[in-house]
Amino acid sequence: MRIVITGAAGRLGSVLSDGLQRPDRDIVRSDLTALPAGRGEAHRVDLTSYEDVTGLVAGADAVVHLAGIPDEAPFGDLMAANIWATRNVFEAARQAKVRHVVYASSAHVVGMYRPGEELGPATPPAPDSMYAVTKLFGENVAHLYAQKHGLAATCLRIGSFRPTPENARQLATWLSPADAVQLFDRCLDNPPQGMRVLYGVSANRRSWWVDDAIDSVGYAAADDAELFAADVDVDEFEFQGGPFAQRGYRGGAG
Ligand SMILES: NC(=O)c1ccc[n+]([C@@H]2O[C@H](COP(=O)([O-])OP(=O)(O)OC[C@H]3O[C@@H](n4cnc5c(N)ncnc54)[C@H](O)[C@@H]3O)[C@@H](O)[C@H]2O)c1
Repeated sequence: MRIVITGAAGRLGSVLSDGLQRPDRDIVRSDLTALPAGRGEAHRVDLTSYEDVTGLVAGADAVVHLAGIPDEAPFGDLMAANIWATRNVFEAARQAKVRHVVYASSAHVVGMYRPGEELGPATPPAPDSMYAVTKLFGENVAHLYAQKHGLAATCLRIGSFRPTPENARQLATWLSPADAVQLFDRCLDNPPQGMRVLYGVSANRRSWWVDDAIDSVGYAAADDAELFAADVDVDEFEFQGGPFAQRGYRGGAG
């Protein structure tokens, strides 16, 4: 199975580039920036170039689309990296007859809900930032390509991917590196019929997200942020999105 990872030089991408390796998989790494040598095929590609994306995904069975700006940023930058690039990935995947795209969405698409409100995959979106609006664009593109063109699409609403949780909010939203690898791994092995939305979160006892559908992919989160509760910063937050949901937030906490 040939799997293209976009954004492979990033925080999540570098963990998954190692973690998803298996003898029956060819992992093809790609990023705008240089990739370290030694973990198989690597391509330096700007996903805003449709022609280059076409070349990248040719022959792939699945694409793990992580590339983008993971934070609030000037809209022109978000437009290029999160909207234009994501459209290119889905359209090139369709043209190349890729079976499955796993898209790194974000829990910020529901960031304006209050802490403690239980949310599921079908909860109406409440984006907390322009960043989150661009991630919803990606979910909608996934929906379009699944329904109209028969592509399998998984949208993972990732919480806070960190080595360890850093503040009180992340005691609810943390996704550990080991659980992230397991989640993407199970999703790749179990593509959906059509499009699905799942929450990317560890087994945090404070989690706000109820996701029965996640059992269907065989994901059994192992880590609980609570183990770090004594060590984290005590932050006040009014909305699930934390700093992203504050008026005037311009990035820096992502
Ligand atoms: N880290 C988290 O906690 C978190 C939470 C929710 C969602 N996500 C999503 O997961 C994905 C990965 O997040 P991350 O934390 O690893 O981000 P990151 O910034 O560490 O990595 C993103 C990578 O995308 C690459 N990139 C940006 N624009 C590109 C372009 N035009 N062409 C090709 N590559 C490009 C960057 O060079 C970078 O290496 C993002 O899409 C983000 O929105 C992350």
